[in-house]
Amino acid sequence: MAHRAYLLLALSLFSGVTAIGQATCVSFSNENDGFPIVQDGVAATVLTSDDDWPGVHRAVQDFQLDIERVTNVNTTIYNFTSGDALTSTPVFIVGTLGRSSLIDQIVNSTDLDVSEVEGNWEAFKGQVVANPLPGVESAYVLVGADKRGVIYGLYDLSEQFGVSPWYWWADVPTTKHDDLFIDASGCSHGTPTVKYRGIFLNDEQPALQNWAMAKFTNGTGAPPRNSPFNSKFYKHVFELLLRLRGNYLWPGVLQSNAFGQDDPDNMPLADYFGVVMGTSHQEPMARGTPNEWSSENGGKWDYSQQREKIYQYWEKGAERAKPYETLFTLGMRGAGDLPMESAGIALLTQVIEDQREILANTFNGTDITDVPQVWTLYKEVEAYYDNGLPVPDDVILLWADDNWQTMRRYPLENERNRTGGAGVYFHVGDPRNYKWIISTQISKLYEQLSLAVARQATSLWVLNVGDLKPYEREIEFFLNLAYDSAVWTPDNLNTYVTSWAQREFEVSEEDSADIAQVLANLTRYNARKKPELLGANTFSLTNYREAETMLDQWETLVAVSTELYDKVSDDAKPAFFQLVHHPVQASANLYKMVISAGINNLRVRQARLSANALEEVVNDAFDFDYDLEDEYHTMLDAKWEHMMEQTHLGYFYWQQPMANSCPLTSRVQARKQALPGPMRISPEGFQAAWPGDMPNQCDIGYNCPSPSLVLDSFDVFGSRYVEVGAGGPNPFTFTATSNAPWISISPNSGSVSPEEPETRVLFTVKDWSAIEGNATAKVTFTAIAAGQKPASFAVDLVAVHNMVPDDFEGFVQGAGVVSIEAAHAARNSSVSGVTWAELPGLGRTESGVTPWPRMGNDGQNFTLGEGPSIEYDFYTFTTGANGTILVSAHISPIFNSQGKERPIGVGFQVDGEPAQSNYFVPPTVPGKDLPTGWVNYIGEAIMTVNSTFVAAPGAHNLKIWMLEPAVVVQKIVIDAGGLKQSFLGPPESVRV
Ligand SMILES: *[C@@H]1O[C@H](CO)[C@@H](O)[C@H](O)[C@H]1NC(C)=O
Ligand SMILES: *[C@@H]1O[C@H](CO)[C@@H](O)[C@H](O)[C@H]1NC(C)=O
Repeated sequence: MAHRAYLLLALSLFSGVTAIGQATCVSFSNENDGFPIVQDGVAATVLTSDDDWPGVHRAVQDFQLDIERVTNVNTTIYNFTSGDALTSTPVFIVGTLGRSSLIDQIVNSTDLDVSEVEGNWEAFKGQVVANPLPGVESAYVLVGADKRGVIYGLYDLSEQFGVSPWYWWADVPTTKHDDLFIDASGCSHGTPTVKYRGIFLNDEQPALQNWAMAKFTNGTGAPPRNSPFNSKFYKHVFELLLRLRGNYLWPGVLQSNAFGQDDPDNMPLADYFGVVMGTSHQEPMARGTPNEWSSENGGKWDYSQQREKIYQYWEKGAERAKPYETLFTLGMRGAGDLPMESAGIALLTQVIEDQREILANTFNGTDITDVPQVWTLYKEVEAYYDNGLPVPDDVILLWADDNWQTMRRYPLENERNRTGGAGVYFHVGDPRNYKWIISTQISKLYEQLSLAVARQATSLWVLNVGDLKPYEREIEFFLNLAYDSAVWTPDNLNTYVTSWAQREFEVSEEDSADIAQVLANLTRYNARKKPELLGANTFSLTNYREAETMLDQWETLVAVSTELYDKVSDDAKPAFFQLVHHPVQASANLYKMVISAGINNLRVRQARLSANALEEVVNDAFDFDYDLEDEYHTMLDAKWEHMMEQTHLGYFYWQQPMANSCPLTSRVQARKQALPGPMRISPEGFQAAWPGDMPNQCDIGYNCPSPSLVLDSFDVFGSRYVEVGAGGPNPFTFTATSNAPWISISPNSGSVSPEEPETRVLFTVKDWSAIEGNATAKVTFTAIAAGQKPASFAVDLVAVHNMVPDDFEGFVQGAGVVSIEAAHAARNSSVSGVTWAELPGLGRTESGVTPWPRMGNDGQNFTLGEGPSIEYDFYTFTTGANGTILVSAHISPIFNSQGKERPIGVGFQVDGEPAQSNYFVPPTVPGKDLPTGWVNYIGEAIMTVNSTFVAAPGAHNLKIWMLEPAVVVQKIVIDAGGLKQSFLGPPESVRV
């Protein structure tokens, strides 16, 4: 019986009746004898109180609409006045504790216990209450501690009824149900993990801006700057934000926008909805700067020269924002989000003092420490702070990332008891803006943000969301984690995406797992090299079959996504296209375009006719890129016109190019035979082709020896190939023969022509036991072309038969390297409760391992060799120079985020050799934002940390020692003398 109950519970998680990450209290049938919101076509009456917040009345109207969306039944909303006689329908009572006289009356006259709610920021509680009002036997009562507590309580039910927060913003269909019930025990929620949870609509050009202009204006935006971001637009943003359980917004800031000026309704509307407004880190005192400043002809934005004028400008900002819930940005940067020329600690201290004085005067009678304020420690401002800039204790300190979701700093131990607390600001930007498509892994957001929770940066989280679309799911995850961080762990993180897929597309559990896998791969592939940074040679065109593996992976992804797209209901297709299928296709197409250009360039150099077809592949992909954009813009009667307008091809510096441009390709003369003859021989691993002279064959570049391929018995691919290609218009047939009996050549003959210009010939070893040590096979390719003499060319295959002892278990060297995914450890020790644990799905290839829990051992570090270690067993046959091997750990980018006293480090040890510590985060050059080399780490999404050990061929053990927390190791590459250049490192070695 107990077993069965458990099963039912597990199933109910997947029945679609959930709010992601939240408790479930809604059902579509009355098996739990719940409270009927809608039953047999009759809806409960919703009772409110006219003295409640206007924002509550507004949310109740959404609640009414949501019920109708699901059931087609209209509820009645009714402001209760005592003495009213109620009709016979069930009664749903909702309101704010201490504000709604209706709620207060019920609390006074029943035994409803509101102690979990009272005084708790944004908490709510719902349950069935007996005899709440005269003549009402029982009712469902939803009580919010405050305005947003009620609103979240209502939207939580809506989400469970089946209305996605994205019903409008991503056209997610609502599944119809006849009946809706709420369990008598109801749904409740306490105070969220993070107090202020918001987004920053930055980088809203071109997409969001042009879309808003088309949809919310008559073609002309508001004076003085032609801004389209009016209250008609923001009403959609506010509703979304609240449905996602966020509460804070930094509005758009680019050329034309200033929230408070563009539409006089903007500020009151935010407050009416219940959204707390702020302004971005560089716009102090609730004013859109520089736009508002310029519109008042403010002149130079420099406090040392224009103190009085700027002071008055800020006074106006404070006065204007006073009636509305506002979290004020303090501090100051120079014009254009640049450092202020005359800045220094003294000036900034003055700025803060003056801003506090303005707030004290404006909110005369209120304690200044009760006016929420934030100061962002961004770029040079962080340096001032580190150098002693005083910050009042009640001001939230907002720490920033590196633009790429790696936090530069978390609050240190001695910074964790400030009354204002700390926060986290994630943004998007240089060394290259990436606004086009989703390229951030949820596992990465989790990794960094759970650390922010562990280090108590929970007063404020702000996520820069660019144009908002297409980051829907990731925005929601950010806000979801901020609302309830304890729900998500490394082990259940994937269910965030599977639940999300079920909610959005009403798919089966199995399909939701497939969708989650598609999205995990999409974001993994895009995160390892952002599309905006991808180059034709990013992935090796010759080593480890890397480039072709990338193309295969993307192609598979498109195939799976297409299958799923075909499978989801017609209703759900537009949403699936926006949220899954468009980004998959568009990213895959971009990768295909850029990598094919790389292969084209290489083949032109190699005098291969097949280069020409690749030029067409690139050009077609360039066209298809626009087709996809157009499809997005025209669907649903052009609802999302302009929304995918972001340029994304052909960057010249960090900011977007002004037009997309096609990657450079070239072609060979298709009408004339290459000088050395009709046949081109291109062996695996070489930039060169034969016969004839060309660079890359050997150092001199002419008269080079014929090529030699090496294949050992633990090679991951188990084969080597030679591509036989056309060197011009003349078709030929070829044979590939060898006198070595142990080699298999497949195919050993074929035809090559302009129509089929390449054939790949694989060499494998039929019988390793026939080889003692090394053996060499000569393979001769002979081409017969009409009217030409037969032409022959020979390639050597050297087979190396390596063997490991039977009792060895672990990874074995192949092709001169050992490559190990960090999660595939042999042993793992635990010290003071801290163990290296896997963060599934994170990073470029498989996952990451990191010391867990984050604040284990009281957040303290370990001495080298005394902390927890994670171990790998491996076997080598060779060494690099001087009998050494090079151990490279691929580590997720990390800053010295624990301050100067606790640099980030990790230890390595091979066998009994002395352990080596490595404090690998490069120093920051004073005056520069990022540590030396950081651009490369960002570009590669990895830091490679090297240590050298003496290690003779044989069995070995590698230990990675924890020194400091938060280090995430993704992969280990051990060079035993054969490592070749590639982006991701060699694929994982054979494990025995
Ligand atoms: C209840 O009263 C409020 C405040 O006067 C009002 O805004 C709201 O529209 C009323 N609701 C209904 C259903 O009449
Ligand atoms: C639902 O009822 C309200 C009045 O209670 C009314 O204003 C509204 O138009 C109705 N909606 C529909 C779709 O019938």
